[in-house]
Amino acid sequence: MFEERLIDELLEVTSELGLEITEEKIKFEHPAEPIFGDYSTNIALVSSKFQTLNPKFKNPKELAGIIVEKWREMGTPDFVEKVEVAGPGFINFWLSFSAFSRELEQVTDEQEKYGSSIKGTGKTVVIDYSAPNIAKPFGIGHLRSTNIGQALYNLYKHLGFETIGDNHLGDWGTQFGKLIYQIKKENANPCKLSIEDLEKLYVKFHEEAKDNPEREEEARKLFKKLEEGDKEVREIWQAVVETSLKEFNRVYELLGVDIDYAYGESFYTDKMEAVLNDTKEKGILKESQGALVVEIPSSPVPAMLKKSDGATTYLLRDLATIKFRKEQWQPELYIYEVGADQKLHFEQVFEVAQMLGYAKKENFIHVAHGLIRWPTGKFSTRKGDTIHLEEVLNEAIQKAKSLITGANGNEAQLSREREEIAKKVGIGAIKYNDLKQNPRTDIIFDWDQMLSLSGNSGPYLQYTYARAQSILRKAQTEYPEEGRPAEVEEDKVSEEEWRLLRSFYRFPEVVEEAAKNFSPNLLCNFLFDLAQKFNLFYEKEKVIGGENERFRIILTSAVGQILKNGLNLLGIETPEKM
Ligand code: ARG
Repeated sequence: MFEERLIDELLEVTSELGLEITEEKIKFEHPAEPIFGDYSTNIALVSSKFQTLNPKFKNPKELAGIIVEKWREMGTPDFVEKVEVAGPGFINFWLSFSAFSRELEQVTDEQEKYGSSIKGTGKTVVIDYSAPNIAKPFGIGHLRSTNIGQALYNLYKHLGFETIGDNHLGDWGTQFGKLIYQIKKENANPCKLSIEDLEKLYVKFHEEAKDNPEREEEARKLFKKLEEGDKEVREIWQAVVETSLKEFNRVYELLGVDIDYAYGESFYTDKMEAVLNDTKEKGILKESQGALVVEIPSSPVPAMLKKSDGATTYLLRDLATIKFRKEQWQPELYIYEVGADQKLHFEQVFEVAQMLGYAKKENFIHVAHGLIRWPTGKFSTRKGDTIHLEEVLNEAIQKAKSLITGANGNEAQLSREREEIAKKVGIGAIKYNDLKQNPRTDIIFDWDQMLSLSGNSGPYLQYTYARAQSILRKAQTEYPEEGRPAEVEEDKVSEEEWRLLRSFYRFPEVVEEAAKNFSPNLLCNFLFDLAQKFNLFYEKEKVIGGENERFRIILTSAVGQILKNGLNLLGIETPEKM
């Protein structure tokens, strides 16, 4: 990647000048306007302290000038066209035409591997995502975790990391005591209860418990029984789990998501005692009003591991999960893609895990996503009015049908093909709407925007991809020769072609950035920008039968390849026609 090579070059130049500049200090940006080059660094501006070290460098501009002079003196590498000082002390770099051409060749050669790397080799990342709660429909509340988590998984994998996805299903906890109480009270056959029935029963428990507070106690006892492995209670629970998983799998099927593991909270039933022992050994387990807690110096609230009735907590299960993951996979990084409302929970989990020596706080990251809102307000998930994700996904597929015009064939084929494309487009629209925004912000669920063929949407990108493919299909029939990047003279490259040519190399950079910052939205921004540039090019230039024809076909193919690689990393499929 050019950025790394530029850093190496700059380090050499600055060390030659006797400046103490380290790699981390060198930051590059891509100037918004091409007249300022392809890369810009403010290294001379941030290195003001060198003025005291070297009084001869009076100001950043002068320092920048000295660096640039030295750079030229030492010989500009062939991937750089020119280097200049700009403004108060920026150093701008222009990449050379040959560098861009080689990059284009690389896209053509590497195809679906373009943008991947082996930087993560030898490092393991566990990604904890999706994690819906059983006995409830898969609600829209777990959509973001599923989408963002899957995108992060794909990104890390693409960078060569050993990636492990774990669906930490919410299948344990005191709420199951309540549900089981209600099932027993109503004499219901647990195997015959639908997910909606289960949800209703849970709501009913709460309604009835208002007037019968003693039921809370009964429910607690039932959860205790469940934890102790009571056969009857355990069987009811098992039936509930099975019903829920069937439901979830339908949603995962629609989303095209397949998570490596789904240990779930219940898996840790017999692994929590070991954590308690660890806390005792470290001398940090305290009793507080009958509960077992660990006090965290930096937090006003202690972490509760066991409630006063002896029931284990969500937090204790998370600690047992870390211990297990550490023993199983020795990960470098534990990524939790969970809503921002669990911020305190994870702060506590990470603190205690560190106190126990399971991992360091730096090894954990909670990618705390914001809420999904309707244009008119927040989705409410209380009182049982969960918005069922499956319904939303099916609605998206239905709506996507109106966008599809490119399918062809006889009636039966046509409708089958349309169904398939509509699924890709509808689901893509939902995913992209989620991923294009910073995970940490709230997002709006707006059908018109999501399905717009002209704005920053999944369908727009898919449409652009399909357009590129349609050009390539045409080129293939008219010019079936094998395509390597065609020689084109630099001064024959039009502005629109230039814009495209100068974008490709940023794809591998952005893949890395998106992973490093846990922000798939950075990749979305790049893809949208590329698609816009391509559509502008398409409007202005005739690809087949125009000037630079071979070159334009290759450009089109590179755009298609990068859109495909990028969308696939986001978990979005790319139909060949739309
Ligand atoms: N099931 C939980 C919920 O819906 C999310 C679990 C997240 N992962 C974790 N390791 N705690 O709130």
